[in-house]
Amino acid sequence: MAKRNLVSKIHKTNLILHSSMLAKHIPVTKRLNRSLLSRMLKKHGMIYVKPDKGSQGKGVIRVEKTKYGYRYQKGMKVFKFNSFCSMFSSIRKHFGQKKYVLQKGIRLLKYKGRPFDFRVMIQRNPKRKWECTGTFGRLAHPRKAVTNGSQGGTIYEPSALLSPFANKKRSARILRRMNKLAHVTATRLSRTYPQLNELGVDIGLDRRLKPWIFEVNTYPDACPFSLLPDSRALRKIVAYGKAYGRRHRTRCSKAKRAP
Ligand SMILES: Nc1ncnc2c1ncn2[C@@H]1O[C@H](COP(=O)(O)OP(=O)(O)OP(=O)(O)O)[C@@H](O)[C@H]1O
Ligand SMILES: [Mg+2]
Repeated sequence: MAKRNLVSKIHKTNLILHSSMLAKHIPVTKRLNRSLLSRMLKKHGMIYVKPDKGSQGKGVIRVEKTKYGYRYQKGMKVFKFNSFCSMFSSIRKHFGQKKYVLQKGIRLLKYKGRPFDFRVMIQRNPKRKWECTGTFGRLAHPRKAVTNGSQGGTIYEPSALLSPFANKKRSARILRRMNKLAHVTATRLSRTYPQLNELGVDIGLDRRLKPWIFEVNTYPDACPFSLLPDSRALRKIVAYGKAYGRRHRTRCSKAKRAP
């Protein structure tokens, strides 16, 4: 199959859902329609609405059912409504002609009151075996519901963000678990797309420290690794990339470095 199909979130999610091991870690993801959004909000309370072919957190909307009605957040703006009808007629204006997906919202762990998640980089090593080459944590901009660096997120060493929730041993176990998920994801996707060489897997943790895969990127950016105190991961990522003909950017303009 041609690799260009791999921009669709729905398509990628459907492929990895074939793995029962992964399926338990993927929040319900469906194509958006009005009645499904209404039902999913009643069931889960919070839903992420995203462009099927989006990137960099652009156009991602968090929708919630509250005690008083409904609210949604896009960028830094929050909109409130007293009925589903009025909320939907407002939110649909953002959609245009694009295809959108709905995903069950995960209540992410927070650090300094801001949600965070992780990006796991996995690449083909010189022996053409899948290998996890690095992970960074991303802390959301103080007023946003997305953690992307390009949306003002801050890049952290994963253990720094995990330290309030898990001791060293448990943090290491969580990181290994995320690597395992990335590995199974890469193995699964490359069965259909053998030409894949690298993936960036976006993983969030809920309050019980269970990992959830939000999406898989087939053209991941290496530059946030340049903001970590240890440069070893970046060096390896760039070297592996070179071996299969990818030139990674190593300067980061948008994401912030952890204080
Ligand atoms: N189901 C969810 N529950 C909680 N947070 C979510 C969910 N989906 C997305 N997010 C938040 O929004 C961010 C952007 O979502 P996602 O990665 O799916 O979109 P994107 O625009 O394609 O980004 P990318 O640049 O990685 O391609 C995630 O990193 C995460 O912080
Ligand atoms: Mg993402």
